[in-house]
Amino acid sequence: MAIEDIIPVRFQDDKLFLLDQTELPAHDEFHEAGSIEELWYAIKMLAVRGAPAIGVAAGYGMYIKARDYVKKENISDEAEPAVIKSFITTLEEAKAYLDSSRPTAVNLSWATAEMLEAAKKAGENTGVTCGQIVDLLRETAENIRKTDYDSCFALAENGLSLLKPGMGILTHCNAGILATAGYGTALAPLHLGQERGYGFKVYADETRPLLQGARLTAWELMKSGVDVTLICDNMSSLVMKKGLVDAVVVGCDRMAANGDGANKIGTSALAVLAKEYGIPFYMFVPTSTIDLNTPSGDEIVIEEREGSEIYKKWYSRPMAPAGVKTFNPAFDVTDHKYITAVVTEKGVIRPPYDVSLREIMGEK
Ligand code: MRU
Repeated sequence: MAIEDIIPVRFQDDKLFLLDQTELPAHDEFHEAGSIEELWYAIKMLAVRGAPAIGVAAGYGMYIKARDYVKKENISDEAEPAVIKSFITTLEEAKAYLDSSRPTAVNLSWATAEMLEAAKKAGENTGVTCGQIVDLLRETAENIRKTDYDSCFALAENGLSLLKPGMGILTHCNAGILATAGYGTALAPLHLGQERGYGFKVYADETRPLLQGARLTAWELMKSGVDVTLICDNMSSLVMKKGLVDAVVVGCDRMAANGDGANKIGTSALAVLAKEYGIPFYMFVPTSTIDLNTPSGDEIVIEEREGSEIYKKWYSRPMAPAGVKTFNPAFDVTDHKYITAVVTEKGVIRPPYDVSLREIMGEK
């Protein structure tokens, strides 16, 4: 697959296709998510993953639900308030259902809220038909995708302004093309830097237990020609101490109002290490990932996943004794005090984050 064909969420001929990331790098196959039930499962199993990509997929999921409901009930031309009301109730249920697939990345509930809000607003206009609301929802889902696509380019430029040619860069998980509708977030400046001859030397943590760094980041960066070296998660201190890392760049699944940022499990350890070694730690956070309604990281719900992912999923035989107790949180929260700067599509912001985040979101 060529780099330009990596489109994790593809909407074509009124159908939603997902590049199945559970199969990468061995196979690059697209599967259709034809219903919100199939999409729920794809999000849960990480066939589509990465905060912005989940949000984009969920937007289309809401549209598919609306389209199929209106067709099944044969109410396309209906404008009766009672009919519109039950249509909106169906969308509210669809939102709650999709939101339940993964709790941590705010982009999911943000995108479903945008879709629901668009339907509700349109439904308030006298005479609007269910069919017109469906059309509007398709446009809204498309706008969510386009906004994310554009924001990736801005993140790339803003991120690159912090980096210098030849730098050693450490990254964790996958915050790239595979996680967004465009260039990525934290990996966006690395792709752009490659195009501009920056010659970065990137270290990709394997990112246990689901190996997004090994399976996805290494694959994606190699496709764009970036010099990438795969390391195990427990090697990051060594590469930092050796002076091989000039900056750490990571994505984010939800940033609270005080600047605490949830990201893939293991991110906070990197931030603490980076501080110890005097290395800047940059978190890439499109504004769709900023959640001013959550005061601090303490209130962010952290997804817990099956323990078998730790000892069984990638192995031909179990790598732990039968019956072993496990703890498998999918994310951790990096305290704002460890984050040197937050890169958004609107600009780079710095502490105090309780002030600068509100400013960038246009709130006082
Ligand atoms: O469990 P995942 O693979 O969905 O986790 C993804 C991450 O933690 C990413 O770093 C985050 O979503 C930012 S992606 C631009």
